Amino acid sequence: MIALGCDHGGFDLMQEVKQYLDQKGLEYEDFGCLSNQSVDYPIYARKVAHAILDGRCDKGILICGTGIGISITANKIPGIRAALCTDSFCAEMTRLHNDANILALGGRVVGPGLAIDIVDTFLKTPFSGDERHARRIHLMENEEE
Ligand code: RB5
Repeated sequence: MIALGCDHGGFDLMQEVKQYLDQKGLEYEDFGCLSNQSVDYPIYARKVAHAILDGRCDKGILICGTGIGISITANKIPGIRAALCTDSFCAEMTRLHNDANILALGGRVVGPGLAIDIVDTFLKTPFSGDERHARRIHLMENEEE
């Protein structure tokens, strides 16, 4: 299950992402927002982060105008690794190396074609499982022992 969240700056792109997920038969839960009306992105970042931490969803997609505010907010929550990606290479690498659990996109930055390729890459790429990457992920939230 994929948790989705956006603000007004990401709303239009999120409709494209939902259409793509529907076509692929991938299940998602939409935590809003639900229109182009101005809202505060931290609310949606937190909803998606908590859905992942609760185990209700395994990954998330967050979209605001730039992807910056919504990813900064998500990354303040322990256990969340939100990666703001503007290309598919970064989407692949952040899954392989960082085991990112949220993809952040900028609705005013990437066009729909590229965004869908980024989403596809993010969702299909597994974590490499390499010891060095697991160690570095552990060190993100823990002091060196
Ligand atoms: C909203 O205007 C905009 O600030 C927001 O979507 C995002 O880009 C913030 O980082």
